[in-house]
Amino acid sequence: MSIAEKTGRPIADLLREGDSAEDLYAGLRAQFEAELRDTRTPEHTRALRDRWLGRRSGLLTAANESWLKAAARELKPTVGKLQNQLKRDLEAALQNAMQGAVSEPRDEAGLDPTLPGPERTAGAVHPVRLALEEVLDIFRPLGYTVAEGPEIESFFYNFEALNFPSDHPAVDEMDTLFLAGKERALLRTHTSPCQIRIMEAESPPLRYVVHGKVYRNDTPDATHSPMFHQLEMFAVGADITFGDLRGTLEHFVRRFFGPSTRARFRPSYFPFTEPSAEVDITCPFCSGHGCRICKQTGYIEVLGCGMIDPNVLTNAGLDHERFQGFAAGFGLDRFAMLRYGIDDILQMYQGDTRFLRQFR
Ligand code: DAH
Repeated sequence: MSIAEKTGRPIADLLREGDSAEDLYAGLRAQFEAELRDTRTPEHTRALRDRWLGRRSGLLTAANESWLKAAARELKPTVGKLQNQLKRDLEAALQNAMQGAVSEPRDEAGLDPTLPGPERTAGAVHPVRLALEEVLDIFRPLGYTVAEGPEIESFFYNFEALNFPSDHPAVDEMDTLFLAGKERALLRTHTSPCQIRIMEAESPPLRYVVHGKVYRNDTPDATHSPMFHQLEMFAVGADITFGDLRGTLEHFVRRFFGPSTRARFRPSYFPFTEPSAEVDITCPFCSGHGCRICKQTGYIEVLGCGMIDPNVLTNAGLDHERFQGFAAGFGLDRFAMLRYGIDDILQMYQGDTRFLRQFR
């Protein structure tokens, strides 16, 4: 006779049939666990709990009463203990089942060593930081020193010292964010003011990479963020030529975007460089064959550069007859997007761990 059938009958009968109290206990427990394993929904589990442990007519409650009554006098303490133990076990198993946990393996301390531990997720390196490190790894061996500068700048460093005439449209074009109440203090719109700060503080030869956050009053979209990251590299010394600039940047883009990358220098204009150029590279997505991203041109514009304007050297206190320099600047966010195939700059700033995890 199965325990299931037995449990349907008064426990007193069962005991008289010769079951030891331990047998009965083990049988009831096995039966309960089998039924528990078969429950598929929380409602089933609750129904099982009521059937076995319900206070009035629960199977165990009823069984316990008659069981104790029927037990021989000298067995009563043992039976009582077993009953309590059984009740505790059933309740614990139920609780586990209701929490969706596995109730089986337990060590002596009552812990289940097979349950998964708390998940420990390693942080990921942000794509902008990743791009920055790659860029720095290229410039450091060339003798460049890495520096940063203040994000709150004066009008002088951000514009005037860089040879922007005060009525220059770029002051507006750059969508400058001025700070309320402060006399022409602003959030720097580019990292170029660091050129001035460093030239003022040190004497040539200078080779510097400066990086950091810059701010513009732009409406956010897939290619614009009101805060983004720039990197500026510059060198000042005697006998520095445009050829040096060109060789350095060609080396740089090949190292960063891949050995087959070609750079194209287009004449351009910046107030702080003369001559100025913009650099396009062969599109890293189609290797220059033409695709949606390069708008079928095969080229993508990546940076601005030029020979540091003599006025800028003078503004920073250097003798432009003795020294020349070159400079280049670009957006690190854009570099990261091109390098890692990210198509929306705002993804970088939404903190979505599903996105960020990919850059471990
Ligand atoms: N400061 C420029 C900008 O934010 C970028 C730039 C262009 C930096 C040419 C340079 C340079 O150093 O030579 O748009």
